[in-house]
Amino acid sequence: MMTGGVHNLSHELSWHEDDQPFSEQFGDHFYSRADGRGETGHVFIGGNRLPGRWAGVENFTIGELGFGTGLNFLETWRVWKATRQIGQTLTFVSFEGFPLEGDQIERAISRWPELAPLTARLLEFWPRLSGEPNDWALDSQTRLRLVRADALTGLANWNDAAHAWYLDGFSPARNPDMWSPELMCAVYGQTVSGGTIASYTVAGWVRRNLQSAGFDVCKEPGFAGKREMLCGVKPRAL
Ligand SMILES: C[S@@+](CC[C@H](N)C(=O)[O-])C[C@H]1O[C@@H](n2cnc3c(N)ncnc32)[C@H](O)[C@@H]1O
Repeated sequence: MMTGGVHNLSHELSWHEDDQPFSEQFGDHFYSRADGRGETGHVFIGGNRLPGRWAGVENFTIGELGFGTGLNFLETWRVWKATRQIGQTLTFVSFEGFPLEGDQIERAISRWPELAPLTARLLEFWPRLSGEPNDWALDSQTRLRLVRADALTGLANWNDAAHAWYLDGFSPARNPDMWSPELMCAVYGQTVSGGTIASYTVAGWVRRNLQSAGFDVCKEPGFAGKREMLCGVKPRAL
């Protein structure tokens, strides 16, 4: 059973070029077909100015809307392992309404052999995935909190705030719930002062929803042929 906003559907997929998952439910790919891992690095890690911003911070929290294949998480964990200092911890909180099966994750991530050991570790935990928030200590400095729920409901039940957000729903036209004014306000409320957001989309109404929520938003060069992407910051209180 899932906590509020229950979805009982498993995720209906087809596969392009053998290892590129395509959501039949939402009619969209999970990440850039040019290079998903490159997109994670450019849009989400770079757009939030990581790893520089976690340097010297004892506990750093990243929030994500849409866990999908876990690619964003796995690539972030790889970069975190390469740059972290003793005594630091990373919490990665992700909200996912339609989780994939373990073998679907394995098939998608097989494209990136450098992520194989981290994927294997994640998949050790995957069979335990439940409708209660899943809190998994993946290594001594890395915690994944995976919330299997509709994003808006999941956020309402999470009593913490993130330093950086990865806004990664499917395309706004096909997945409007993941970019709604209510959800962008909830993200703003659960961002620390001076915290940031990044997204691959520059859809005008998404940008306006983020601005109405309170973020200062700007466009930056996008990934792999996309002209632009969005970055934003929650202004520090004066
Ligand atoms: C573009 S994919 C995310 C890709 C992912 N970050 C990765 O690294 O593979 C969007 C994800 O949002 C999830 N999703 C769509 N609508 C949702 C909702 N209302 N609440 C929670 N998750 C949702 C989908 O199931 C899908 O996994």
